[in-house]
Amino acid sequence: GALRGVVAIDGPAAAGKSTTARGLALLSGAAYLDTGAIYRAVAWAVLRDGLSPEGGQVADLAGRLDIDISVDPSLGQQVTVDGERVEAQLRSRQVSEAVPSVASHPIVREAVHQIQRNVIARLVASRGGIVVEGRDIGTVVAPEAGLKVFLTASDDERALRRSRQEGVTTWNGIMAVRQALLRRDTRDRNRAVSPLAKAPDAVEVDTTSMTPAEVVDRLVSLADERGMLRLAAHPPVG
Ligand code: CDP
Ligand code: CDP
Repeated sequence: GALRGVVAIDGPAAAGKSTTARGLALLSGAAYLDTGAIYRAVAWAVLRDGLSPEGGQVADLAGRLDIDISVDPSLGQQVTVDGERVEAQLRSRQVSEAVPSVASHPIVREAVHQIQRNVIARLVASRGGIVVEGRDIGTVVAPEAGLKVFLTASDDERALRRSRQEGVTTWNGIMAVRQALLRRDTRDRNRAVSPLAKAPDAVEVDTTSMTPAEVVDRLVSLADERGMLRLAAHPPVG
């Protein structure tokens, strides 16, 4: 691929992280890792086993889980938990509600960080570059990233984006989506271990009035400015 190194993209829910991280990865032939899907996979298993997301049994479960993740942006991310393909179930209301509690257990974060660091090292070695998106990538998971971006958008815009994505069109429905999203952000910002935060050296991009294509173009120029892109200026000869 044309991307060299790690691009870290963090930000609150529905800021456009997945869409634009995937766009940058596709454009630059890099791998793409959605780290939220791994926390969602742990939360899915917590619900599968009928455990309380806050309870101490979550830590034991996290140690036993076998989570596998594929990172080809053209395939869409595939996630396997104990041999079962789960990606289609990861964005349910129940999982979204449970995930901030599950993700605040230090042992869960340690286990998930290990999975992430393995994927990042493997893909930088095999493909040259990877775009990683989440809450704590620039701060904790990949502080060495060559480019760190903190994506934001206004609360109203994010509520509308997530509502559109979920096919919610009524006023009450949109207000409920907004409330759930802001509640999750608050919990992600306030947890003790690797909270949602902008790294001091991250570039903040407010996407409120940008299209996804405009955000991808901005990411491309930020990566290019840092010498991370080897885009062919001329067609290869021979
Ligand atoms: O797509 P959306 O932004 O709504 O959520 P996500 O990226 O799938 O993340 C789901 C949840 O996983 C977040 O609300 C966090 O609780 C947790 N998460 C985290 O703690 N650290 C990350 N690097 C990524 C996600
Ligand atoms: O990953 P994250 O939760 O940050 O957001 P996403 O799932 O990538 O984006 C949420 C929705 O907003 C998607 O349907 C995107 O197409 C849309 N979006 C947008 O309308 N304008 C942008 N600049 C970025 C995303």
